[in-house]
Amino acid sequence: MMRKIIITGVKGGTGKSLISFLLLRELVNTKRVLFIDLDNTLTVTRLLGILHLDDIFNNDYNVSSWTYKNVSIIPLGVANQGKLQEFPKAYMDLVEDKDIIMIDSSNITNPVLSLEAKLSPQSELDLILVTTPQSISLKRTIDTLLSFKTIYPIAPSQKLVVLNMTKEEVQELQNDIPFVKIPFIKELFLKGISAESCEYPSILASIRDILYILDLTKILGDNNGNKRVY
Ligand SMILES: Nc1ncnc2c1ncn2[C@@H]1O[C@H](COP(=O)(O)OP(=O)(O)OP(=O)(O)O)[C@@H](O)[C@H]1O
Ligand SMILES: [Mg+2]
Repeated sequence: MMRKIIITGVKGGTGKSLISFLLLRELVNTKRVLFIDLDNTLTVTRLLGILHLDDIFNNDYNVSSWTYKNVSIIPLGVANQGKLQEFPKAYMDLVEDKDIIMIDSSNITNPVLSLEAKLSPQSELDLILVTTPQSISLKRTIDTLLSFKTIYPIAPSQKLVVLNMTKEEVQELQNDIPFVKIPFIKELFLKGISAESCEYPSILASIRDILYILDLTKILGDNNGNKRVY
């Protein structure tokens, strides 16, 4: 069955797009992916070299005609809700032959999320909520995760919290929700994300943990690799 991965959260600037980009890069060589970019500034689409900030600022692109390796990309952002009417056709044209739908959404309440859910073929949903570990943000993240069915029409099969930019030990999460930590990396923070400069071993290890927890290593054909034990 087709898999759908939504990467989102309740707080801005927590690393959702960085994680989306690195997950996409792991999946892209073996799987056919439809990537829906609902990031405010189309970060992943830009990291892939498909659009530039000028195009986005000038609204000078259409939503349906982008491909990168095995990925089809629908760049929507949030500043371009005028393009929403192009979405259903672009989506239906592209979704049919895909193994995975991946969505990077800066905002959990983006209306495209529920529109996509209505159009979506049957798929298993993996929900990744990204947060920083500060207690208020973490609490809102857990609350949102537990009440996700009030915002989204499909119940997630798997839920995962990513605690990004951790500097100190984090306690186990309540309710046995699986989580992955990513350490704060000063250089990444200072320089920002670029396609070449986000390959920090600790981050890549966490990305592989995410793939493993969500059972995506299997669909990558890596059934007997060096699994980490939880
Ligand atoms: N582990 C980390 N250590 C240090 N800096 C990080 C880390 N993860 C992300 N960053 C930095 O945080 C900034 C925000 O990252 P990113 O754009 O992925 O966040 P986002 O959650 O997608 O933001 P938005 O809410 O605007 O969509 C980037 O400049 C990135 O370099
Ligand atoms: Mg983002």
